[in-house]
Amino acid sequence: MKVLCIGSMNLDFVYSVDHIVQPGETEASYSLDVFLGGKGMNQSVALAKAGADTYHAGLIGDDGKVFLDACKEHNVNGKHIKTIDVKTGNAIIQRDKNAQNCILLFGGANQMLTEEYVDGVLNDFEAGDILLLQNEVNMLPYIVDKAYERGMQIALNPSPFNEKLDDVDMSKIGIFLLNEVEGEQVTGLKDPDEIIAKLLDMYPDAKIVLTLGKDGAVYADKDQKHFQPIFKVQAVDTTAAGDTFSGYFLAGISEGMEVPKALKMAAKASSIAVTRPGAVPSIPLRAEVEAALAE
Ligand code: RIB
Repeated sequence: MKVLCIGSMNLDFVYSVDHIVQPGETEASYSLDVFLGGKGMNQSVALAKAGADTYHAGLIGDDGKVFLDACKEHNVNGKHIKTIDVKTGNAIIQRDKNAQNCILLFGGANQMLTEEYVDGVLNDFEAGDILLLQNEVNMLPYIVDKAYERGMQIALNPSPFNEKLDDVDMSKIGIFLLNEVEGEQVTGLKDPDEIIAKLLDMYPDAKIVLTLGKDGAVYADKDQKHFQPIFKVQAVDTTAAGDTFSGYFLAGISEGMEVPKALKMAAKASSIAVTRPGAVPSIPLRAEVEAALAE
């Protein structure tokens, strides 16, 4: 079974700051680092590092060739990544002294997908293959419809949550991967149990993975519900923690792992990622995750 992610590739400009800058304030940063990121690429790298047969598709500009090298390095099949005459997407990230962040996106090439490009990519995949999506590329409604017609299983991380998701036929989504903020944005509810109940009411056949930050994560479908606490660590950078969790969880499920085991592996991988700076470079290999789980 192949796992395809049609998703973003961003150059992450990460500014280390004392606190997240406030409206009207000017603040000097301590340092600037540039990392590879983008929710799409982060989740593809997490999938591949977890051992899934991973394909990443999306668009970059001439300034994004480094993503092709990253695919080779991390065992992601990047043959569908295309270079166009538009700047690669980027993100301005402030990372504060408590390892919290805020992210400002510039879509660039990520927002230039066309029907022709999407059709060409999907032609390489078949019923039963998994498609993973986030909301950092355009054409989501079209991608979902076409992948569903093909019989692919579709997983959606509705992040960032905005009005562009209104046109997506959510009844075609098999797995929702979202955090508590996105859960509230989708359902209008704050309590995790109520969010899950509402999502299952709206999409009875879906599998829901709701991450709750320091309060762990919950999985639920119509037959089962499981809770996974976090592994406590000293975080230095929480960027891509959720992406690492999503990629590892999906990789576990795609290889037939029981849900509690996939949740535990995803939580451990995510706990390792937050101890390292950056997005793509922070994602651990499966062997490292398993060794840590065995400790
Ligand atoms: O989830 C973290 C990612 O969000 C960053 O890598 C940034 O590029 C944005 O897409």
